[in-house]
Amino acid sequence: MKLSFYLLSLIAIAASHPAFSADPPVDFERQIKPVIADRCVECHNSENLMGGLSLENHEHAMRERKQGAVIVPKVPGKSLLYVTLTLPVRDNKAMPATAHRLPHDEIEAIRHWILEGATWPDGKVGEIAPRRGRAGNR
Ligand code: HEC
Repeated sequence: MKLSFYLLSLIAIAASHPAFSADPPVDFERQIKPVIADRCVECHNSENLMGGLSLENHEHAMRERKQGAVIVPKVPGKSLLYVTLTLPVRDNKAMPATAHRLPHDEIEAIRHWILEGATWPDGKVGEIAPRRGRAGNR
């Protein structure tokens, strides 16, 4: 009796711990890369550096900028990559700088990804080439 209560409590604690939560961690390649490729890199690459920002790869995204950090791992509220997605559409810093904002689930995926540490692999997986003509088409 006492033992089963103890076990149940342990299960409850384990279930509420982030490492055991039902949501799997955000997958950069599957959930983040396609969004940046479709909606951001068009204007943010090494040739088209709008706002002085390239999102082509991790190194570019992490470059120091006087306007503030684009990604602060674990702190979405200080990461312009997330904050600009949540600004009112009329704000001229609201991203993407097109008529269509990102769907809620994509914004949330980016928030979770940053909270989890914003892992962005090096090498080919982490390289995001612009897909010409797609930004703003959704
Ligand atoms: C149509 C072009 C265009 C697209 C698409 C676009 N941006 Fe931008 N972005 C800009 C411009 C222009 C600026 C500079 C705005 C300014 O400083 O007033 C900018 C600036 C930024 C900044 C820096 C803001 C600051 O305060 O310095 C971030 C971060 C950013 N964009 C993220 C994104 C993200 C994330 C996406 C995709 C979801 C995206 N952008 C899509 C044009 C674009």
